[in-house]
Amino acid sequence: MNHKQDPVAGTKGDVTSHDKAKSWFYSDVVKDHFFNPRNFLHEDANEADYNAIGKVGSPACGDELRVWMKVDPATEQIKEFRWKTFGCGSAIASTSMASVMVTEGEGMTLDEARKLKPQDIMERLGGLPQRKFHCSVLCDKALRDAINDYYRRTDQFDKIITEASRIIDPVSKVTDKDIEEAVLEGAHTLELVQQKTKVGIGNPGCLPAVEELIRFYKEKYFG
Ligand code: FES
Repeated sequence: MNHKQDPVAGTKGDVTSHDKAKSWFYSDVVKDHFFNPRNFLHEDANEADYNAIGKVGSPACGDELRVWMKVDPATEQIKEFRWKTFGCGSAIASTSMASVMVTEGEGMTLDEARKLKPQDIMERLGGLPQRKFHCSVLCDKALRDAINDYYRRTDQFDKIITEASRIIDPVSKVTDKDIEEAVLEGAHTLELVQQKTKVGIGNPGCLPAVEELIRFYKEKYFG
């Protein structure tokens, strides 16, 4: 997989962090989708025009994304995917690319769209800087929320998949979602996850479960 790594400190990139310690590079595809976002909803959404709506906020950065889909009831293919976000350039590029991918050709079926992973979107974008991975997860989650909305509206309740969070450390009240966010933010070791979340500091008995979750989310998002 072609993940763009944060380059060597001091190298001139597309963006330099405010402490000037690191530069980030964006692929030409990312820049193209950022400057020319596909399927962006410029006007106010007329919600009656759509039969599936999704919304998600990112705990990692506080940004929000909304999507509106037209699904063909006969085939459950996505015929239109429009979106708006208060997210960053990476979220804009990722959602723009996702909107293209789910509507290409005849449009993905909802089952196919559910199999789309953040890695697939990043691959088509030519990678994202590591600390921006969570931005591509934002569109993935909004897409899943819209798919659930479609199934809810069509009374196919058995097809709805929700991800409830589970408390992993009752002392610090850290959940599996907190660990997921930490991994997406680049904390790939127990030590780094503990720095971010304080998980297990007063309750070391939960650490094996934490390590297992770190492995799971690393595999899920970074392969
Ligand atoms: S930093 Fe919030 S979506 Fe990218």
